[in-house]
Amino acid sequence: MKTLEINGQSHQVDVPDDMPLLWVLRDVLGMTGTKFGCGIAQCGACTVHLDDTAVRACQTTMDMIDGEKITTIEGVASTEIGAKVQAAWLDKEVVQCGYCQSGQIMSAISLLASNPKPTDAEIDEAMSGNICRCGTYVRIREAIHSVTA
Ligand code: FES
Ligand code: FES
Repeated sequence: MKTLEINGQSHQVDVPDDMPLLWVLRDVLGMTGTKFGCGIAQCGACTVHLDDTAVRACQTTMDMIDGEKITTIEGVASTEIGAKVQAAWLDKEVVQCGYCQSGQIMSAISLLASNPKPTDAEIDEAMSGNICRCGTYVRIREAIHSVTA
């Protein structure tokens, strides 16, 4: 049995050590806001925060987690920066199909937490691991800039 702290709540899970966090979130806990895309750390759809650091949940297994605070898209609105990023996403109408957007928002929050006024190049670098098949990159950049304005 392992205890996970997710979005400020404790969850007891009885899962194998090699099970990825993404499976635990979606299949065990029913938190489906975090998406499965590639499963090999190449698309960013599964991005969550471990102690404020953006990580790929598909490649973060249970044995890699030792008491860190986990934040998912379901919990970001309760943080000041998370609420601002969500509002900016709505204001700039970033979302197309939406599938990649949980991961995009998690990466954007992580960027802004460490760099409140990123340049275009810094945004492109920080967001380069989050793929969007709908091509929302320009609006993502606008939304991030609007949070910093
Ligand atoms: S599903 Fe994890 S990076 Fe693609
Ligand atoms: S909004 Fe469709 S994949 Fe990004």
